[in-house]
Amino acid sequence: MNGASISNRKMDGQAAQILIIDDDEGDRKQIRRAIRQSGMKAACVETCSIKEALSACERCEFDCAIVDYWLPGEDGLEGITALQQKLPFVAIIMSTGHGDEIVAVEAMRRGAADYISKALVNAVSIRIAITRALEKSILQRKVWEQQNELENFARVLAHDLISPAASVQTFARRIAERLQEGSPEKALQYADYVIQTAERMSRLIGTLHQYTQADAQVTFDAVDLNQALNEAQANLQNLIQAQGSVVTSKTLPTVFGNAPLLIQLLQNLIGNGIKYCDDPVARIQVEASEKDENTWLISVTDNGIGIPKAEQKTVFEPFVRASTARKREGTGLGLATCKKIIERHGGAIWCESTPGASTTLFFTLPGVDRAACSSPEPGPPAESCVDAQPARR
Ligand SMILES: Nc1ncnc2c1ncn2[C@@H]1O[C@H](COP(=O)(O)OP(=O)(O)O)[C@@H](O)[C@H]1O
Ligand SMILES: [Mg+2]
Repeated sequence: MNGASISNRKMDGQAAQILIIDDDEGDRKQIRRAIRQSGMKAACVETCSIKEALSACERCEFDCAIVDYWLPGEDGLEGITALQQKLPFVAIIMSTGHGDEIVAVEAMRRGAADYISKALVNAVSIRIAITRALEKSILQRKVWEQQNELENFARVLAHDLISPAASVQTFARRIAERLQEGSPEKALQYADYVIQTAERMSRLIGTLHQYTQADAQVTFDAVDLNQALNEAQANLQNLIQAQGSVVTSKTLPTVFGNAPLLIQLLQNLIGNGIKYCDDPVARIQVEASEKDENTWLISVTDNGIGIPKAEQKTVFEPFVRASTARKREGTGLGLATCKKIIERHGGAIWCESTPGASTTLFFTLPGVDRAACSSPEPGPPAESCVDAQPARR
């Protein structure tokens, strides 16, 4: 399941994919016409049965399904369950005949987001029902994603925090034993391990915190990326100086965003450029170009070890590290945090890399003019011109 589809479609102003399941051609036509007249940006696919609908779900990830309760030889309520199994976040609206309110309540108990009486289908009612249903399903998807994230966190905490905590206990016990034995030098050695392990734990907690903070409520404003880069470099000053790394940049634009999040993003990318470099001097170059009207393309290029082609997409997933990273400490949350930050800004992030030579991280950000048009945060379903596709059959 590609969970990003609905909100991405909305953010891009793409048409919502709507599946109409009804055996009556007249009823399907009425729904399609109401959608067209509602002014929503939507593409419709029609089927006569749940069976056909399930096979249509193999070919398209629908945002919304309008399901007739009365389908010959099929149970509309069972259909809701089957559709949800196929597409867990599809927004289902049950269309009922007059006086079927009890059925409608049962449909909603089973997971339908809304119901609409066929007698009352018109541009306004269909628009309200679809908008509500889409909002509900987006909310459900968010809850599901957060639950998933929590489970991942619990797993990482178990593996990455409990084991060093146990090491600290063991080392502390050994310090006590060595001191009792009268071997303070050996005790000092164990004390060193305790300090290193505690530092690693504290870095991990910091990274986890940073990842969760990328979801916090923030305000968007004009952000001078030159200034953001200076702050990111200042925060990395110890690392840059210790490694003798060189960070250079061309003049960067002012974008529409949240400064602390963008500083965090640059810090993560530059930090990676330094960490994943075997050359004596890590060189990181930050550049920007205007991609299209009011969208900036920023790149961060290094002379590091590179990322194998097959892993260039997965490294943006939480807790995923490339096979080349094994020797170096890390959590696999840095790029996932960057992805979250960029998606909150309505942009995209990806990488291109030549293994053994260099990696460039690209990301897009809205220019300041975007502030006047819209917020980069996900908003209500797209509203614009009608784009309903006719029936397949
Ligand atoms: N600039 C880079 N050069 C080479 N590999 C990189 C670079 N940035 C990220 N990676 C790879 O992507 C993985 C994910 O990066 P990140 O999420 O920051 O996690 P980590 O905590 O491992 O640094 C890293 O483990 C590493 O394998
Ligand atoms: Mg990292």
